[in-house]
Amino acid sequence: MLAGKRILLIIGGGIAAYKSLDLIRRLRERGASVTPVLTRAAEEFVTPLSVSALAGEKVYRDLFDLTDEAEMGHIELSRAADLVVVAPATADLMGKMAGGLANDLASTLLMATDTRVLIAPAMNVRMWEHPATQRNLALLRGDGIGLIGPNDGTMACGEFGPGRMSEPLEIVAAVDAALADGPLAGRRVLVTSGPTHEPIDPVRYIANRSSGAQGTAIARALADLGAEVVFVTGPADVSPPPGVTVVAVQSAREMEAAVMRALPVDAGIFAAAVADWRVASASDRKLKKTRDGMPVLSFAENPDILRAVSHLDDGRPGLVVGFAAETDDVVAEATAKRLRKGCDWIVANDVSPATGIMGGTENAVTLITAEGAEDWPRMGKDDVARRLAMRVAEALGA
Ligand code: CTP
Repeated sequence: MLAGKRILLIIGGGIAAYKSLDLIRRLRERGASVTPVLTRAAEEFVTPLSVSALAGEKVYRDLFDLTDEAEMGHIELSRAADLVVVAPATADLMGKMAGGLANDLASTLLMATDTRVLIAPAMNVRMWEHPATQRNLALLRGDGIGLIGPNDGTMACGEFGPGRMSEPLEIVAAVDAALADGPLAGRRVLVTSGPTHEPIDPVRYIANRSSGAQGTAIARALADLGAEVVFVTGPADVSPPPGVTVVAVQSAREMEAAVMRALPVDAGIFAAAVADWRVASASDRKLKKTRDGMPVLSFAENPDILRAVSHLDDGRPGLVVGFAAETDDVVAEATAKRLRKGCDWIVANDVSPATGIMGGTENAVTLITAEGAEDWPRMGKDDVARRLAMRVAEALGA
C-alpha cells in the first residue's frame, strides 16, 4: 500500500530510536522509500551506518554540510517527501516544533516543509505529562500535526505510564492512514470504547458486560477512511485496532480526563459503556471479612462525559455522537436521550438479552438525528462501524 511513497524519517535522540531501525525495514518492506535524518542526540542511540544500511539511502545529519546542500538543499529535502515522520519525537523536538525553532537540520526541515507531518512521541512519563509538553502538544495539534501514541507501559527508565513510543507496525499503520486518500484524511476523531472499572478496593471493582467490540470496529473503520483516531478505551475484551492512538483508562473519571486531553477533535464518537456511578466509599486497603457483617457501599455519580463534551462552549467537536443501549421503547428513549445529552446523533440499540447483541458480533441500530430515526438492518458490528464512519465523513463534509 505504501509503494512509491517517500517518507522523510526524522529520528530524535531517545532510547526508542532503536525501534526506528525496525520502522525503516517495515516501511521499506511495504514499498516506501525512507530518507533518514538523525539529530545529534539520535546518534548517541543509533549509528548513522546502521540507519543508512537499513534505509539504503544516505543519512542526513547536519544543516551546514555543504556536500549535502549541493546534493539536495534542506528546503528541497523537506518537500520531496509524501510524509514527514518524526520517530521518536522527543520532548525537545516537540518543543522546537511548537516554538518554531530551526537551529539544526531536523528542526529546520520541520519548519521548511509543506508536507504533512506525523509524530510518534517517546519520553519519560513525567516529561510527557509536564504542562509544557502538553501545551506544546496542543499547539502542534492546532497546527495540524498528526500524532501516533505514545502508548502506556513500562519504560526504559523503569517508570510506568504513557510515554512509550508506538510499535513500528502501529506507526506503519498510522503512516498508511495519513497517506490514504480516504475522505477523513487530515481529520481527527475521538472514539471512546469498552466498559469502565470502578474500584471498590484495590482488588475489587464494579464493571459491565461491554466487550468494546463495537467501539473498536468504529475506530478501525474511521482509521481506514484516513482519520487520525484517538481511541480512549476502558478494559475491553478485544484488542485496539492498529494505527490509532490508544489511551487506556480504567474508571469513568480517568476516561473523562483522557477525553478532555484529546480535544480538539473534528468528531467525537462515545461508544463506551461508562459506569453511571462509582463507589464513593472505595477503600485504599482491601476490605476484610469482619464480624460486624457486610460492608456497605455508598455510591457517587460519575461525570457524564458525553453530556460534558456536548455542552462545551469552547472546543466542542463539530459532530458529537452518543450511544444508547436500551431494553424498552428504544427509539423514544434514545430520542429523549439525544436532547438530554445535547449530542448531534445517538446510535441506539436494543440490548435485551434475547437480541444477543451485548457481547455478540452483530448489531441492529437506529440512528437518531435532528431529522428523525433511521432503522438500519441487522448486520455485523464491522458493517455498522463502516456505515457509521461513512456517515461521519459525509457530516464533516469530507
Ligand atoms: N456516557 C458518558 N458518560 C457517562 C455515561 C454515559 O459519556 N457517565 C455516554 C455513553 O458513552 C453513551 C451515552 O452516554 O454514548 C449513553 O449512556 P447511557 O448510560 O445509556 O445514558 P444514561 O444517561 O445513563 O441514561 P439511562 O440511565 O437512561 O440509560
